Amino acid sequence: MKAIYPGSFDPVTSGHVDIIQRAAKVFDEVVVALAVNLEKNPFFTIDERLAMLRDACSHLDNVRVDFFGGLLVDYVENQGAKVVIKGLRAVSDFEFELQMALTNKRLKDSVETLFMMTSAEYSFLSSSLVKELAAFGASLAGLVPKAVEDRFQAKMQQRRQEAIDL
Ligand code: PNS
Repeated sequence: MKAIYPGSFDPVTSGHVDIIQRAAKVFDEVVVALAVNLEKNPFFTIDERLAMLRDACSHLDNVRVDFFGGLLVDYVENQGAKVVIKGLRAVSDFEFELQMALTNKRLKDSVETLFMMTSAEYSFLSSSLVKELAAFGASLAGLVPKAVEDRFQAKMQQRRQEAIDL
């Protein structure tokens, strides 16, 4: 069975990779689907996020990375899938995830959302936290894949250069 793991992945963290690896053991195929979250103003471009995701998933044979711009339920149907995987960390995630799962169910009854609990070691981790740490120059080792660490370095350097050029 195929499962879709959607998110804005700005950027992908070790917590996301942990969910992807565990989902890849349960499902025949996992599509990691980068989507637009209108609530968020992304730090990385879509191409940057796709490149980091592809790098982070390159060791997983049954995982594919993709992008879609419309509704999740339409994408799931177009992919011939029925299952959406979401990761759950704390109780604080629950309310919003429940709202999204119920909205998606209302939009398309054939699509089921399945939740995987975070591994304890990543239960505090989020893309927002990682961006905050990076902005203050803290080490990201272990919190994100190596490709993401490198991309942050490049992006921060580019921003510093732009500030100097102004
Ligand atoms: O990683 P995120 O930002 O929590 O992921 C949220 C995401 C991208 C899965 C959600 O915003 C989404 O599904 N966007 C696609 C548009 C859509 O279907 N919106 C209605 C969902 S209730």
